[in-house]
Formats: sequence, structure tokens, C-alpha cells
Amino acid sequence: MYGAARLRLHRAPGLPYAPRVTNTPRGTSAETSRHGLPGDPDSSPGARPRRPAPIAIDPADPGTLLRALLEMEPLARADPGAVRVVRAPGRVNLIGEHTDYNEGFVLPAAIDLELRIALAPARDGRVEIVLAETGERAAFDLDAIGPRRGTWIDYVAGTAWALREAGVPARGFRGLLASTIPVSAGLSSSAALELASAWALTEPAGGAVDRLTLARICQRAENAYVGVNCGLMDQAAESLGQAGSAVLLDCRTLDWRPVPLPLDRCRLVVCDTGSPRRLSTSQYNARRAQCEAAVAELRTTDPSIRALRDVTPGMLESIRGRLDDETFRRCEHVVREDQRVLDTVAALAAADLATVGRCFAESHASLRDLYEVSSPELDAMVDIALDTPGVIGSRMTGAGFGGCTVSLVEPGAEARLRDAVLDQYPRRTGLTPRVFLVEASDGVGLIAPA
Ligand code: GLA
Repeated sequence: MYGAARLRLHRAPGLPYAPRVTNTPRGTSAETSRHGLPGDPDSSPGARPRRPAPIAIDPADPGTLLRALLEMEPLARADPGAVRVVRAPGRVNLIGEHTDYNEGFVLPAAIDLELRIALAPARDGRVEIVLAETGERAAFDLDAIGPRRGTWIDYVAGTAWALREAGVPARGFRGLLASTIPVSAGLSSSAALELASAWALTEPAGGAVDRLTLARICQRAENAYVGVNCGLMDQAAESLGQAGSAVLLDCRTLDWRPVPLPLDRCRLVVCDTGSPRRLSTSQYNARRAQCEAAVAELRTTDPSIRALRDVTPGMLESIRGRLDDETFRRCEHVVREDQRVLDTVAALAAADLATVGRCFAESHASLRDLYEVSSPELDAMVDIALDTPGVIGSRMTGAGFGGCTVSLVEPGAEARLRDAVLDQYPRRTGLTPRVFLVEASDGVGLIAPA
């Protein structure tokens, strides 16, 4: 590991553009209560169903979440000193898209849109969580986790399962959850739920499991329990993040280090296209399969190739005829994207923002034309940004097929970009965008007690 992660107290985020507060993580639905989870007190025979009602909290003030838990949860009132608030950030990837599962490089940052759980530890091995936004409750028992249910609690149950597989002791809790990470926007609210859960299930030992291991446990939860075949980027960013820096992760060696952002020269703006991420899971898996098929073909003549990470642009060119056109284009994106990550890191260190902007532009064009994971909405959002004075670079971020763009802008140009997006994007697409001025923030940790 290049650098030891440092746990800093987190300042409650100021969200200058007042995002709509969304408390339900990605992939979630209000179905949990309807499903009547096994063991859910509301679903036991004879129990009167409790109608879920939103719980008023101020998303910018973790104290209100803590007070709401004390009000609603007898366990919390019985031992207020044991109550904790954990937080896990969302993430935005600056560059290095679809490289993590090819053992390449990524450069994401944890951001100050975050998910929080106020919790009272429980001795009975039961995990019960209420979503503040809806009042919906879901639960499971640590000694009978069972298979996935198809709802948001899977991310928590999967994390408990993966902790057990890794031999990390977990204990139950009663929690209240709130989040400012927009849902289904590609800012990894699911990884945030996994990491916050891991911390909640293991705290106070949580801080004792090293952060990279914690990220890998959460990735395993998502791969093997929830059933989403993601790489390590999201969990790593949200575990290893440090305020003011992005995280450079080598997805082969798992070496990583913080990369300070030249904050006197640039700001991060995330624009949500508001477009549904249709087919994102099947298309994501299809891209992975194409990369793996290309590696299998290349290995027939060079068994030292284990992943696209081992292929240089020159090597790829020399075997052009052995791959079909589409597979070749996919590989070309990955191989060149890895180099763009390293070029961006060097350019950030030199505060050479023109080069960073060029890398962003090349990355977006490559994702659009070669990897084919952009969308008309993402392209429109990037076009609008690039036409706005003071924007240094802009590209789609995350898996694609909808979701968000990330833009690097000169200080003072944030409002101009917001106004341009709010004015032009609806006219071009008929959709309502959301604009977030974000800061690179610390990874998962405790807010309270301080
Ligand atoms: C999603 C996955 C990540 C990564 C990106 C694409 O966010 O969860 O592991 O593959 O897509 O870069």
C-alpha cells in the first residue's frame, strides 16, 4: 500500500445546490415491507402491520438522525452511550472506466454526498433498519441470513454474509438510515450501503479491519450475494477516500495512494442526466464477457497474458485480425484508458489541467465510440459542459448507459455550468437534470461519537 488511510472527522456536507434528498439506495424498492421479510416483526402472525411513515431528519445534520433513533428505538434509549452514527460516501470516478475488472488502473474519489446509519448495538444478533425517507423497515438475523430477497436489505445481509465468510465477527443492531446520494445515478449508493453496514456490523472493531480488506469484503457481498459482478473500484473509493484527494488504485496489485487534487485551480461538478440506466447490468456483463473472451484468444499464443492489463496498444494492433471488430474496439478502449489514468495522475501532480481536460475528452469519446456505454443524454450533458466557459474537462462517469457526468471546472465557473445545464439540458432531452457541486471526501467512518 502506498499510503495509510487516515480517518478524519467528517464535516456535515454543505450542499450548495440543494439536491433532492433521496434516502433509498440504488436498486432498492419499497417492496421490502410488502414482501414481509422472514422474521420481520411487522409480518409475524397476529401483529398489526405498522404503516411506514417518513421520519423527519435534516440530511445535513447527523445529530437529527441520532435524535430520531433515540426517540424511536428502545434499545438506543436504554444505552444512549452505545449509540453510533456511521457514514459512507458516494463516489465519482474521475477516469479509468471499465478498467477495474481488467486489472487496470482507476482514479475515483469519495464525495460528500453520503449515506448514514444511526445505530444502537444489539446483543440478539438481529439487524433491523428503518429508512428515514419512507419509514420502511427491513430485518434479518445474523445466524439465519438466508438467500437474497431482491430488495435493498440484500446489501446489508450480503455484507453480513461476506464478513462471516472472511472470519470477521459481526453483531446485530437497530438502525435508522438516511442518504443524500441520488438513487440509480451511478454514484455507488449500493457500495455506500455495504460499507456503512460493514462498519455498523463490526464497530467498534470496524476500524480494526484494514480499509482495503473491508472494500474487498463488500465487493464480495455484491458479487456473490447480491449477484452483481462489479469490480473493486466503488468499494475501494468509498473505503480508502481522503478529503481533497482522488484514489489511484492498481486493480491488479491493489496498491493504492491518494492523489491530491489542485483545489485552488479546480472544482468537481457532478451532473445527473436523470435518464434510467436501462439494460445496464446485462450490458455491463456483456462487456466483461467480451474482455474475457479477448484475453482467452490472446492467451492461445501468449500464455503470459492474464488480463487486458498485460496488453499494450502495440500488441493489440499486431493481433487486430484475430479479434472481431467489436471485440477489438472494446479492447482498444481498455488498453488506452489505462494509459489515460496514468497521464491524468501525472498531469494533476503538475497542475497541468489542460492535459487532464484532454484525457477526460478522450475517455468520453472512447466510451461512446469504442466501448459503447454512453447514451444520447450523457453525450448531451458533456456537450453542454464543454461549451461552457471555465469547464476544464467533462466525461461520463461510472458504468454508463445513463447516470452522471463528472466535470472539472475552474473555481467560480460552477454556477455558470449549473445554469447552462438547467437551461439547455431539459430542452435537448426533455429530462430534468440535477447538478451537484461535490468535494472529494474521506472514506467510510464514524461521525458520532466524535
Ligand atoms: C460500475 C462498477 C465498477 C466499474 C464501473 C465502470 O461502477 O461497479 O466496478 O466497473 O462500473 O468503470
